[in-house]
Amino acid sequence: MTSPPRIPGDVAHAASPRSVLHCADAFDAAFAGRPCRVVRDDGSSHVLPTWLWSGDATVSDLALFADPCHGATLDIGCGPGRITGALAVRGIEVLGIDTSAQAVRLTRARGAMALQRDVFD
Ligand SMILES: C[S@@+](CC[C@H](N)C(=O)[O-])C[C@H]1O[C@@H](n2cnc3c(N)ncnc32)[C@H](O)[C@@H]1O
Repeated sequence: MTSPPRIPGDVAHAASPRSVLHCADAFDAAFAGRPCRVVRDDGSSHVLPTWLWSGDATVSDLALFADPCHGATLDIGCGPGRITGALAVRGIEVLGIDTSAQAVRLTRARGAMALQRDVFD
């Protein structure tokens, strides 16, 4: 299968080969608690609040993403498993997939099922 299209400004698309950080590696670092910044095409940047992902799903998350799920659910790009975990607690059959090994570990640590997979594969 072919790779997904590259997005200009993506960290995996950096100019210097030494600075190339692939998407899964970047999310691994973020979910491991390393400080991360979003850098835009114009060079401006801001701190990425990755710690928000590692907590539990908020009331808004649940209303938007968990409440509509009544049957078996595939959470693509499950990250640290906030939604996957919340659905599992509700007794919904749910599987999270994510390219980040750290994301899969964190999702499993919540007691939910997750596999390290690329949705495009
Ligand atoms: C913005 S985070 C969202 C995490 C989670 N859904 C949440 O709301 O907390 C996007 C997630 O998608 C994952 N991801 C990116 N590209 C992916 C791909 N091609 N296949 C599977 N997961 C992917 C990243 O590793 C990351 O965990």
